[in-house]
Amino acid sequence: MNSKDQKVIISTFEKEVCEGLTAFPKYLSSKYFYDEAGDKLFQQIMALPEYYLTRAEFEIFQTHKLDIAHSFDNDKEGFDLIELGAGDGKKTKILLKELGDHNYDFTYVPIDISQNAVEGLVNDLSVEMPDVSVNGQIGEYFEVLDRLKHISDRKKVVMVLGSNIGNLLHPRAIQFMQKLCHAMNPGDLIFMGFDQKKHPQKVLDAYNDQTGVTAAFNKNVLARINRELDGNFDLDKFLHWETYDPESGTAKSYLVSKEKHTVDIDALSLQVHFEAWESIHTEISQKYDDDTVKWLAEESGLRIVQSFTDKDEYYKDYLLTVV
Ligand code: TRP
Repeated sequence: MNSKDQKVIISTFEKEVCEGLTAFPKYLSSKYFYDEAGDKLFQQIMALPEYYLTRAEFEIFQTHKLDIAHSFDNDKEGFDLIELGAGDGKKTKILLKELGDHNYDFTYVPIDISQNAVEGLVNDLSVEMPDVSVNGQIGEYFEVLDRLKHISDRKKVVMVLGSNIGNLLHPRAIQFMQKLCHAMNPGDLIFMGFDQKKHPQKVLDAYNDQTGVTAAFNKNVLARINRELDGNFDLDKFLHWETYDPESGTAKSYLVSKEKHTVDIDALSLQVHFEAWESIHTEISQKYDDDTVKWLAEESGLRIVQSFTDKDEYYKDYLLTVV
């Protein structure tokens, strides 16, 4: 970077793009997939026949809503239901309705860094379920959780759905769960989705659909650099590539440069050189089994109480407690 052009304030996006594209091998963080265009593409992914994750978790909620509600608060002492990364709340609404219908005493606290997402969901719920008490919070997960620890002394049930945990490698997943643990009191619960190991082709197809929506989603990070950082990535020079290692259970997404070329990112005064077939690693989507989840829980100071799965056993939601 040319020091004369260097800006005083550099956003994390700018910093991480610079770090990732000057590293060897190159990488970009998947959290940057989700701008407005990326959110729309992800909605399309969730509707793809190949992308079984969302439907499997939806089925779990529909089939087991009674037992899930009961497992959250069997003596009906009252609790706060805190959801990290609530999105459109489609799955959660099934549960909120169940809890409301059975007169559970609870407040729903959706947390997201996207103000749009939280406001949309809070508005929806005020129309669809006016009797449910909702307290939407905008902010980083742990900052909000820390705040809640001091505001409310009720029992907490923290939900993390959609196998979001799978986007972290094991050491970082443990860090995340340990932090969760520290924000909670004994007796509090965590309800977390973990996508399960399955036929490797099934996993590959979910991340490499026929219609190319997933490819467009993966490439959106380059489009975003073009839009926000004055980049000139030619998206056609890259292909979306997916791998799955059945031993580790790790699915990985890459963008691979089809030819030797150079890209300019003007806002960073950066030139990025690509060799032919050089890759940018963008995402991991970890798949689990019971033993791995048990190990993660133990490493984080948690214990598995119960689990709920769909009929194909593609996906599992685990109820965990602080030991
Ligand atoms: N991170 C999500 C998942 O693991 C979203 C996702 C779906 C994704 N398809 C993708 C991320 C393709 C990168 C590439 O399921």
